[in-house]
Amino acid sequence: MKKEKILIIGANGQIGSVLTNQLRDQYGYDNIIPSDIRVPDHDAPLFERLDVLDKAQLHEVVKKHTITQIYHLAAILSAKGELNPKWAWDVNMNGLFNVLDLAKEKKQKLFFPSSIAVFGPEAQKENTPQYAPLTPTTVYGISKVAGENWCQYYHKKYGVDVRSIRYPGIIGHESLPGGGTTDYAVEIYHAAAKGEAYTSFIDKDTRLPMIYMADAIRATIQLMEAPSEDISIRTSYNLSGMSFSPIEIAQSIRAHVHDFKVTFEPDFREEIAQSWPSSIDDSRAGEDWNWKAEFDLPKMTNDMLKHLKERYMTAV
Ligand code: NAD
Ligand code: SER
Repeated sequence: MKKEKILIIGANGQIGSVLTNQLRDQYGYDNIIPSDIRVPDHDAPLFERLDVLDKAQLHEVVKKHTITQIYHLAAILSAKGELNPKWAWDVNMNGLFNVLDLAKEKKQKLFFPSSIAVFGPEAQKENTPQYAPLTPTTVYGISKVAGENWCQYYHKKYGVDVRSIRYPGIIGHESLPGGGTTDYAVEIYHAAAKGEAYTSFIDKDTRLPMIYMADAIRATIQLMEAPSEDISIRTSYNLSGMSFSPIEIAQSIRAHVHDFKVTFEPDFREEIAQSWPSSIDDSRAGEDWNWKAEFDLPKMTNDMLKHLKERYMTAV
């Protein structure tokens, strides 16, 4: 077992809840401290209720558990952020500053998740390169561009070992998404597994970059465990899993649920999706730390439906 003590901030969310379990398997149960502003609705040993905007409380938790690494996942995502832009900016930026200052002072290794939301309409849409123009249209995207650059600044100026990935939309059966534009791609599987129809808030032909949870978690830990000298990008790495539109995911589901019905009622999230890439060039992640996705759309659909059907059948 590695001798690390890891704090996860935002551990009650879609990614954090899965990452907590994976890190516990790899580093030992007691070495992972999940924290969140929301207390979980199940029994959660070692959980700390923590608001990342409360600097004193953050320092207290880190001291109490002698933390050596931080995964800072707490953020307000793209769709929720547009409903309250100043709140999203406050949580996303001031939360990050608190964590960066702490990592600088205590010399902790830090993970900061960025997003495909850093790209805007000026970026090449297909196979978007690592160094495309970053002109996001959402407050979430603006906060992630600023966050990535602050991470690089703290690395160059103060030697903070901060690492980051621009996640595509993440899809998993273990947890529910928390207010993003790509949430439809999780909801659609739940509807299909329950035998229900689905109404998509993203239009039928809008293709977005996505990734299966298992791949996203593997990429995250792989990046965090890579030798420091291999990390040539200290803003954030492009990462890719697969790309599809609502029509394509529905077709993939129909291979298992033949009568699955989908209708389309695009809302404000469609405009956000239109401003993002359709597919991502993640070759730098492959070159620097051997990243390669394992799940494509058919493989993900198979796994998602298997797990969700089991869950809903047991619930009956
Ligand atoms: P989520 O919304 O499911 O979880 C975020 C968690 O942060 C929530 O549990 C929330 O309670 C917590 N939180 C909010 N404000 C907080 C505060 N002040 N203090 C402490 N905790 C607070 O989000 P997620 O999907 O798990 O995303 C995690 C990270 O990954 C975010 O930074 C997000 O921007 C990034 N990301 C996610 C995706 C995706 O598709 N899920 C894609 C790209 C990037
Ligand atoms: N899945 C995220 C969102 O839609 C992308 O960062 O907000």
